[in-house]
Amino acid sequence: MAKIEGFRVKNFKSLKDVALGRLLTQHKNEPLTPMTAVIGKNGVGKSALFDAFGFLADALKSGVEEACDARGRGGFERLRAQGQTDPIEFEVHYKASVNARPINYEVKIEADESGRPHVLSEVMDEEQENEVPRCFLLLTKGRGVVWKGSQGSQVYETAEGFNLLEVSKSLARSIIKEKKLEEFKDAEFIELEDRRKLGIATLGALKQHPRIAAFRQFVEGWYLSYFTPNAARGLPLAGPQRHLNVHGDNLSNVVQFMEREHSERFQFMLKEIAKKIPGIDRIETERTADDRLLLKFNDKGFQDPFYAQQMSDGTLKVFAYLLLLNDPTPPPFLCIEEPENGLYHRLLETLAHEFREHASHQEDGSQVFITTHQPYFVNALDPKEVWILDKGEDGFSTIRQASDDPVVNNMVAEGLPLGGLWYSDYLDAR
Ligand SMILES: Nc1ncnc2c1ncn2[C@@H]1O[C@H](COP(=O)(O)OP(=O)(O)O)[C@@H](O)[C@H]1O
Ligand SMILES: [Mg+2]
Repeated sequence: MAKIEGFRVKNFKSLKDVALGRLLTQHKNEPLTPMTAVIGKNGVGKSALFDAFGFLADALKSGVEEACDARGRGGFERLRAQGQTDPIEFEVHYKASVNARPINYEVKIEADESGRPHVLSEVMDEEQENEVPRCFLLLTKGRGVVWKGSQGSQVYETAEGFNLLEVSKSLARSIIKEKKLEEFKDAEFIELEDRRKLGIATLGALKQHPRIAAFRQFVEGWYLSYFTPNAARGLPLAGPQRHLNVHGDNLSNVVQFMEREHSERFQFMLKEIAKKIPGIDRIETERTADDRLLLKFNDKGFQDPFYAQQMSDGTLKVFAYLLLLNDPTPPPFLCIEEPENGLYHRLLETLAHEFREHASHQEDGSQVFITTHQPYFVNALDPKEVWILDKGEDGFSTIRQASDDPVVNNMVAEGLPLGGLWYSDYLDAR
């Protein structure tokens, strides 16, 4: 399955410049672990980082103008890091499969004089072994070039290694501006009709551009959980649905789908899940007269079962997460904000192990990205899996990997739990 190796955000809310893992310009960094957790106190930018993924997914789906206004984001100027005039920028470094060459996607978004956002530029590169990367999409102000199939151009040839990427990109941009296409043999000149839409949305629908299509599908498959237990308690209209939606209000529909399409697997899953939720003996389904499925939880101490509508927030939440992890066609990237809310601490450690176990299946497991401020969750993690967000003197977020500090690595190696270290301020910037 596809994996994100690195991610960079610039000028988005408090994230003036925050980078995690491996990027085109930082290709010596280690790629992100299959499970990544971002920790930090209140107000350091955890939600901003979570929303950076959400924003990018929304922008692909409905364009940057709509994405700036969606989910209460409040428009471009509220999103741009305060006091900054540079574009908002996202960079995703990813691999379409275990053996694929890493691909880097970079997009910049700015606004016109009246504050309406549009795409400033999009660049896609394919890393090469022991060679400069090959660019295969270069769009600037709605115009640019794209290379078909597996072609590309080492537009960076003139640059000395990766550090001069920006220089060579702007050189390439000026060539496109003057339409001197002979500089880009094998490339096709393109012009977008609507500058609020991402180029990858359009080009990613074409067979001629398999790398862009794969990336588009990858981002479309991201699952960002805005799960609220109350939503999951609703009694939606009957009808099986394949995947849990972002709010979790189709939990019963997914249960119906699983029961119908994967009956044996589903029964097995219910048994497994029941084992992992303390106090729960059995989980069963009951068909109502109007053909809906009710979820029944058998509590150890009680004779009569409880229905989802009566269950605790924590139980419902863990049930929904475990159901997600057991999806027969799981999303490639699973992003969960503060899974701890409403969960008992033991359950949290179980959940952390479940997420990690799931993420470690290279071929078919989702990559898991979590933001949290719960030490118990962090206890179950390795320093390489944990990134610490902080707020700098200037009010903007900074990030570092817990494993950057050898003292922390040593303490964890000696058996001290990472969450405990964080709790006692050991992980604070020194
Ligand atoms: N456009 C912006 N520029 C700079 N800072 C911002 C911007 N928008 C919000 N913030 C700040 O970002 C901080 C991070 O918030 P948030 O991501 O919700 O933190 P967390 O989820 O870690 O508690 C808040 O303190 C908020 O004031
Ligand atoms: Mg938050």
